[in-house]
Amino acid sequence: MPLNAFWWSLFVVFFRGSSSTRRPHIIFILADDLGWSDVGFHGSNDVRTPNIDALAYSGLILNSHYSENLCSPSRAALLTGKYPIRNGMQHNVIVDSAPWGLPLDEKLLPEHLNKLGYVSHAVGKWHLGFFKKAYTPIYRGFASHYGFWNSHQDYFSHQVQASFLPFEGLDMRDNMTVDRSTKGRYTTRILTERAEKLIAAHNASSPMFLYFAHLATHAGNFDDPLQAPQEAIDMFSSVRPLKKRIYTAMVWELDQSIGRLVAALKRQNMLQDSIIAFVSDNGAPTTGLYRNGGNNWPFKGEKNTPWEGALRTVAILWSSSLAFPRRVVNHLMHLTDWMPTLYTAAGGNVRDLGRIDGVNHWDFFTRIGRKQPRHEILHNIDDIYQYSAMRIGPYKYVNGTTFLGCLDGWYGTEDSNTRKYNITDVLQSSVLASLARLSESEVLRIRETSKVRCPSLIKDNAQLCQPTKQPCLFNIHKDPCETNNIYGKSKKLIEVFEKRLAEFRADQVPPGNKKTEKAADPKYFNGTWTYWRDLEDSV
Ligand SMILES: *[C@@H]1O[C@H](CO)[C@@H](O)[C@H](O)[C@H]1NC(C)=O
Ligand SMILES: *[C@@H]1O[C@H](CO)[C@@H](O)[C@H](O)[C@H]1NC(C)=O
Ligand SMILES: *[C@@H]1O[C@H](CO)[C@@H](O)[C@H](O)[C@H]1NC(C)=O
Ligand SMILES: *[C@@H]1O[C@H](CO)[C@@H](O)[C@H](O)[C@H]1NC(C)=O
Ligand SMILES: *[C@@H]1O[C@H](CO)[C@@H](O)[C@H](O)[C@H]1NC(C)=O
Repeated sequence: MPLNAFWWSLFVVFFRGSSSTRRPHIIFILADDLGWSDVGFHGSNDVRTPNIDALAYSGLILNSHYSENLCSPSRAALLTGKYPIRNGMQHNVIVDSAPWGLPLDEKLLPEHLNKLGYVSHAVGKWHLGFFKKAYTPIYRGFASHYGFWNSHQDYFSHQVQASFLPFEGLDMRDNMTVDRSTKGRYTTRILTERAEKLIAAHNASSPMFLYFAHLATHAGNFDDPLQAPQEAIDMFSSVRPLKKRIYTAMVWELDQSIGRLVAALKRQNMLQDSIIAFVSDNGAPTTGLYRNGGNNWPFKGEKNTPWEGALRTVAILWSSSLAFPRRVVNHLMHLTDWMPTLYTAAGGNVRDLGRIDGVNHWDFFTRIGRKQPRHEILHNIDDIYQYSAMRIGPYKYVNGTTFLGCLDGWYGTEDSNTRKYNITDVLQSSVLASLARLSESEVLRIRETSKVRCPSLIKDNAQLCQPTKQPCLFNIHKDPCETNNIYGKSKKLIEVFEKRLAEFRADQVPPGNKKTEKAADPKYFNGTWTYWRDLEDSV
């Protein structure tokens, strides 16, 4: 080995060795209902996301990252490292007035990290249960929580209208205290301010875990679903119709938040020692319940379906420890993988995490020549909706669907090309003011590789996919848009899937969903949503 290389490798060993004793800060940002093409780096010019794009180009674009297809199951998978079938989270969400939550025998990511010396904070949406105090973030490993316990809220009044009952109440908490002080202010901004404060107040001698679960870009209440500050809406006056203009402003506000967070970390001298993840909890509900008009182009389906439009999500990882940043990676990753990956990055041993479904990707991300660790994903088994979906290698199997197939179309829109991608916007973003510079050609190169392209329908090869009549099979590598059903081409493959699914099915627990209760009505609690089953402690 040439002498230079020798000294270099010694330096690397030394540097890695010494830095590994310093545990990184972990900033996990979860976007809500943000669609695949609601970010500029996937190829859309219709949105303006310079900060998110800058973070993506500077780190890794995880282009085969899969979430669950709905809010509660995704959050459960992220914080437990387990598939939702393991703890009864596999069907639908925790509806406002239903007395259940993520089971208390689950040990969550912040609890594991706290053992390594982390201070964990939660900002934003919870949606893992609040009918009893013990299910809320403060009791589940977070030193503080600022935000709301329900699935969504009005972006200004912070009131929550129940999904299926005529109930309404305030849902904004500072730890366990109801917070009325921010009424009238925009949720995305309030949450961002809290995250900035936490970063500014953090004593960097201990590592921080910040779980920042945005409301954006989920819809608000039924009476006023799309909301953004007027000055942000006015920035997009050329975007039509109005709904799309407001949604574009909601996305812009989310993007501003990412810029401010990175700047706050830089100011506090924490950025170089931070891991930042930005992930969407599921695809956009373009047309369905709580529709936001978000764009999953070019994928099939939308939130709450078994298709790529629901499951394959925007995902970015940035860290100064990445072996090869500034690129798109296409290996399979699932939400459950963050727990072992971040725990390893924090210096923990995955064996401490017990039996989980997640696999550790940290070595793959930070060491050259490591093999990708994941080859299959159980997307879900839901015996109430009656569907199952699974991925093995490039193949995906789907049996049954949701809503009798009413959301099984393609709802995204290809970029209208009425605007050009503004590279200056990215190069001048606050994220790039804090991270290493990028060149225009680098931006274009990475953006080009992050676009997903789909073949057109191969007519003589494709069978109609009618998943309620017969399972469908796709080769996602060749056909990410799920247009060419190849069921019937390979009996063997179908057998492999059905055998594997039977194994998972044998190991699932029944869904934990409960019926809604009138006792949850905020009218009994001075107009606030609260832990109604712990009555004696309520307001
Ligand atoms: C929330 O808890 C944190 C950590 O214990 C504490 O610093 C903060 O003051 C609390 N906030 C409120 C409003 O109680
Ligand atoms: C930060 O924590 C360390 C270790 O506990 C302590 O020595 C130091 O005084 C703290 N710094 C501040 C500014 O509180
Ligand atoms: C497909 O799903 C249905 C409903 O869940 C189930 O009854 C059927 O056995 C499944 N088919 C196969 C081949 O597994
Ligand atoms: C592009 O972005 C820059 C920086 O934000 C801005 O000054 C400029 O007006 C934008 N150009 C267009 C055509 O929108
Ligand atoms: C009840 O709600 C009102 C606002 O609607 C508030 O002013 C008052 O302080 C609340 N009372 C208690 C006991 O929290």
